[in-house]
Amino acid sequence: MDPNTPRTTPRKSATFDDYTLSEIRRAATTGIYDIRGAGAKRKMPHFDDLLFLGASMSRYPLEGYREKCGTNVVLGTRFAKKPIELKIPITIAGMSFGSLSAQAKEALGNGATLAGTSTTTGDGGMTPEERGHSKTLVYQYLPSRYGMNPDDLRKADAIEVVVGQGAKPGGGGMLLGQKISDRVAQMRNLPKGIDQRSACRHPDWTGPDDLEIKLHELREITNWEKPIYIKVGGARPYYDTALAVKSGADVVVVDGMQGGTAATQEVFIEHVGQPTLACIRPAVKALQDLGMHRKVQLIVSGGIRNGADVAKALALGADAVSIGTAALVALGDNDPHLEEEYQKLGTTAGAYDDWHEGRDPAGITTQDPELAKRLDPKRAGRRLANYLKVMTLEAQTIARACGKNHVHNLEPEDLVALTVEAAAMAQVPLAGTNWIPGKSGY
Ligand SMILES: Cc1cc2nc3c(=O)[nH]c(=O)nc-3n(C[C@H](O)[C@H](O)[C@H](O)COP(=O)(O)O)c2cc1C
Repeated sequence: MDPNTPRTTPRKSATFDDYTLSEIRRAATTGIYDIRGAGAKRKMPHFDDLLFLGASMSRYPLEGYREKCGTNVVLGTRFAKKPIELKIPITIAGMSFGSLSAQAKEALGNGATLAGTSTTTGDGGMTPEERGHSKTLVYQYLPSRYGMNPDDLRKADAIEVVVGQGAKPGGGGMLLGQKISDRVAQMRNLPKGIDQRSACRHPDWTGPDDLEIKLHELREITNWEKPIYIKVGGARPYYDTALAVKSGADVVVVDGMQGGTAATQEVFIEHVGQPTLACIRPAVKALQDLGMHRKVQLIVSGGIRNGADVAKALALGADAVSIGTAALVALGDNDPHLEEEYQKLGTTAGAYDDWHEGRDPAGITTQDPELAKRLDPKRAGRRLANYLKVMTLEAQTIARACGKNHVHNLEPEDLVALTVEAAAMAQVPLAGTNWIPGKSGY
């Protein structure tokens, strides 16, 4: 070729990008699909696409250091004799002992208790570490029934019936053999070292009518004291919320597709469900249509990272939010000081998601006693409490700037969207207009 002929820059395909190519090669080499933890990693509309307007002439802000802005929340006011009272509207989501080490569960309990909030058990039952360190503990009742025990139901402060998770709506749990230690096997009544893929459907009810009966049973054996939550993955949030209310839930938990998981197929995490942002307004609408908004509380989860996310979820109508991944990061998961060890696992800090393999150098998503010992539950708990405090202060700062004396007084009217997609999903105006896609304006 004439050396003076201009060369074009080699162009990589946006469709067949480097990650896609490496996935095709991985599948071709191994013949098995990829399993991983965490939530959807691709970019999609999220809370960052919303902005608060703040007060100016037409709204009156509150003074940060002198005027109070409440953050407490009461969950389970519909039927339960003993609703849950939390100091902050941020709870710790259900994460199983099995997926997490006993030390990590203890650390979550320590941190949540210091911050005045609750933790939640998970697939695999209740550990004494968690009950002992978590002042307010929600007990999950899952399709797998692993570790299900009526005595533990009575020891809990609330019950969460898990219908689905945002990372995998329609799918069941997965805990691979590497993490089935003697203790995990004993708690789940299953053999050691064998992969466990748990059911995606509850064995004892098929729809909302049976579920109503099931909830009645759960209330009877807990003396109508405990609030009952129903957790759904972000699939059809309007109908799922309405049916959860019909079944008798005190609290509905809606988990969007950015929501983390301990392990499932990558294709499931990235291609099933709806973004968290798209789930909130339909869930709130269902509650409003039934005259149940604020009577049945709504908890939203899936990709909540900071106080702004909390404030935005509340402004869209949630009563509280729940966090999983961010709580693990606060404990020390994916921390850059472990970079050398992540590299040995073929990954890097911030991207480590092979939680199912149980080789977590931070001692969090593992059952290896030597690795688990690395996590100091007290220190990690304090880190979580600090993080929860900062998130709460951030949400309060925003609420005050919007002139609200309680974070629950934030409302959609305080928000605008940066993109048409976010405006449509959150049902707030596109910034600079009064246009809500599908609704009104110019
Ligand atoms: C390590 C891990 C284990 C989990 N285990 C469970 C579980 O046992 N039951 C459940 O309902 N959800 C489980 N989840 C999902 C969380 O309860 C929650 O829905 C999700 O983490 C929220 O999204 P976020 O991680 O973006 O905060 C798990 C999540 C993680 C990260």
